[in-house]
Amino acid sequence: RDPPMRSVRRSSEGAVAEVVIVEHPDVGGELVARHIASRVRAQPDFTLGVATGSTPLPVYAALARECAAGLDLSRVVAFALDEYVGLPRQHPESYHSVIQREVTEPLGLDPSLVRVPDGDEATIATAGERYEAELTAHGGVDLQLLGIGTDGHVGFNEPGSSLASLTRIKTLTASTRADNARFFDAPEQVPTHCITQGIGTILRARHLVLLAFGAGKADVIAAAVEGPVTATLPGSCIQLHAHVTVVVDEAAATSFERASYYRWVYEHKPAWQGL
Ligand code: PGA
Repeated sequence: RDPPMRSVRRSSEGAVAEVVIVEHPDVGGELVARHIASRVRAQPDFTLGVATGSTPLPVYAALARECAAGLDLSRVVAFALDEYVGLPRQHPESYHSVIQREVTEPLGLDPSLVRVPDGDEATIATAGERYEAELTAHGGVDLQLLGIGTDGHVGFNEPGSSLASLTRIKTLTASTRADNARFFDAPEQVPTHCITQGIGTILRARHLVLLAFGAGKADVIAAAVEGPVTATLPGSCIQLHAHVTVVVDEAAATSFERASYYRWVYEHKPAWQGL
């Protein structure tokens, strides 16, 4: 069994983030899933911040295997990061649908404990405030899974997003719409607007786990971890948080300046520390 987590701790040695380089995304998925499983065993009503996109899929797959082996996630509370504005909830690419298909069902979560921001156009003006109120009333997120867009976004916080931002409507960039066109029949079907947890919202989660896999993410993840903290690259906000784990595969690790140090730190990680 993994060692218990301390409730408050710094990232490894007070570094910006603990960077864990794994051979393959599946290994990263296993690592993160094992950690989540140990947290849930200790605290069955653990609150997980869930992300959409391809990146977290190995985590969900590994968690589903933990469930098949007896892990019970039925009391876990989940908060999603974002949602498109104007897609009906039942549209297969709405994040309500994606979260249900990729997270809630395979992991056996209780649907009444899974929250996704409300992208309904009719009530969008208040949707951000309502989601913030829900998060606050609940007591926040224990562990937030994050991917990073090729333009540096986290959640749907596009470049230029305030580092203090809260859940609100955003306009997607051309690059994000192009990246996500693969999920739609035609590129113009990708919605233009979204509602997303802000960077300030994300930074309130007690542990951030940022994942990046593949060569296409090497430059952006290196910039997020090692470059300046800037709203121009929203993923760099992780440097403002005291407990961050960055999990990358070898292909995504090629642009780090300090890769050999990260490997050294991880090899010498005290066993009690957990992720
Ligand atoms: P991806 O997207 O996981 O599909 O690469 C990441 C993101 O846009 O945050």
